[in-house]
Formats: sequence, C-alpha cells, structure tokens
Amino acid sequence: MDSRVLLAAGALACISATPGIEAAGPGPADDAVTSPPKIVIAHRGASGYLPEHTLPAYALAHGMGADFIEPDLVLTKDGHLICLHDIYLQATTNVEQLFPERARDDGRWYAADFTLEETRRLQAEERLGSRFPKGASRFAVPAFTEMIELVQGLNERTGRNVGIYPELKAPAWHREEGLPMEEALLEVLRRYGYLDEEAPIFVQSFEEGSLRRLRDLGSGLRQVFLMAEVDQYRHFLSSEGIAGIAEFADGIGPAKTMLERQPELVDWAHDAGLTVHPYTFRADQVPGRYDSHEAELDRFLFDLGVDGVFTDFPDRARAVLDR
Ligand code: G3P
Ligand code: CA
Repeated sequence: MDSRVLLAAGALACISATPGIEAAGPGPADDAVTSPPKIVIAHRGASGYLPEHTLPAYALAHGMGADFIEPDLVLTKDGHLICLHDIYLQATTNVEQLFPERARDDGRWYAADFTLEETRRLQAEERLGSRFPKGASRFAVPAFTEMIELVQGLNERTGRNVGIYPELKAPAWHREEGLPMEEALLEVLRRYGYLDEEAPIFVQSFEEGSLRRLRDLGSGLRQVFLMAEVDQYRHFLSSEGIAGIAEFADGIGPAKTMLERQPELVDWAHDAGLTVHPYTFRADQVPGRYDSHEAELDRFLFDLGVDGVFTDFPDRARAVLDR
C-alpha cells in the first residue's frame, strides 16, 4: 500500500480515538446511545521507554497515541508544582550527589525542602534497573507548567487534543508541611485554560479529602478517585460504597488486581455514572496468568469493560484499541 495512504489511515485512527476530536463522516443517529471511546493514559509518560516524568517521556507518549498523559505532582518549598512520583528525590534523581547535606534525619531528600531553582539543577534518572540505562543521556525534573506547555504545544502542532491526567501526591502531608496543593493546582490549571468538565483533563488522588477540597474550591474539572488494595479503601468496595464516590469524583482508578478479584466493581461504577481507569499495565511485567501483555489488556478492556488503562507502554494499548 502507498505509504501516504498508510500515514493518512494512521492519522485518522489517531483522530478517531482522541476524545474531543471528531472524525469526519456519518455519525450515529441522534437518538443512538454511544459510549465514549476507551482511553490510553500514559503512566508517568511513556515510562516503559524513557525515565518517568521527563519531558522526553511525555513527548514520546504523545507521539505514541496516548489520549492522556499523567504527571504525578509534588510541591517545592517555594510552592511550585513539579513532576515527580515520590515526595522524595533520591529514587529518581542525583540529589544525593548534588546536595549531600540536605537529607532529613530519616535519610531522605524531600522535594518540599528544595526550591524550584534547586530542582532545576537535578538530573532525572531511570528508577528501574531493567529499563532505560541508568545515568545515560541527560534528563531534567520538569515543572508542571513545562509539562503542560509541552503537551499543548504538541497538540497545536499535530491537531490532536491530548489531555493531561495530574495526580496530587500526598496532599494531606503537604498541607501539614504548610504547602497546600489544591490551591496551587487550580491556579496553574486556570492559567492554562483547564476550566470545566469539558476540558481535556482528569485530576486524580488517592485522598478523598483532597478531591472534596477541590470541589469546595469551585473546581468543576473531572476527578478520579484512586484506590489501592489496602484497608482504607475497603468500605468503598460495595455497590453502595462505590455509589458514594460519585459525591466527589467522576471516576475510579483502582489497582488492576482489585478488578480481577471483584469484577462487579466495574458495573457498580458504571451504574453510579463513574468511569473506570485501572492501573498499571506494563509490557515488561506481565502477570504469569496471562499469555501476553495484549491478552491482559484484552481482559480488562473488553471482558471487564473498563473505560481506559494507565500504562507504561502507551503504544501497546493504542494498538490493542485500534485493532
Ligand atoms: O495514578 C494511577 C497510578 O499511577 C497510581 O499509582 O503509584 O504509579 O502513582 P502510582
Ligand atoms: Ca500516579
């Protein structure tokens, strides 16, 4: 087949699969009930290929057809949101070499003890020994604003409408440190045009209190409540418990094993009007009960009926959805 035809088909597939961008052509009858397309959420960027939470990992995710890109967020001591999974810096940066004296008594280097300017001097590194070569090339720790500008710039250049999926990390802990996150998040999001439930964004948190606080501060953005397999979430795992989440969120983000154990969570969530986005799918860590990464994705997307997946390998989930 002519390569231009292939390219055009690829672009059309991308546009069709991107929420907020309609493909040309006849649509469903007005009264037909349609489900929104299932989405690919690039977990920490395309973190299966490049160090997590770096601008190259976010750019690669955009190029691989992700619908949303996830930054985890923490605050610096001077109140800036930066893209980082841990509230500590030592697992994914060279902080130990650059600032050897700045660990707390517990032996950890907290991002909340560093200014934005200081975090700019750090080099980001791969977390896992089995992935991108540790110490190779050069990566920075991005500010949240830089991440947004990258995604919005790529959207402008490609005509796509890729969304962002920020997670506030440990907001209660940050508040105790005198660093309220919700206000900081909403200020940045308003500045960059994420204003209401139509905006290409989901805000996520493991903390119910934080999601409620965002609503109290007037946020109408879509929110997802994350849940892990620990006691604090057990009381949500009934039809009534799940329905209660609709008071403060538009969706749930459970650990994927929770859905394997209790597949009815998906129907209960849908009945309550909640979307379901389990985490985290990894092509290099496929559970032994599946024949392949694609078989695992098939099980969740088509048998269990989830609405999207957090994945370190956005190209693989994109390919499964576009089959
Ligand atoms: O946010 C979904 C998933 O990323 C939660 O786990 O630890 O990777 O942030 P974590
Ligand atoms: Ca996360």
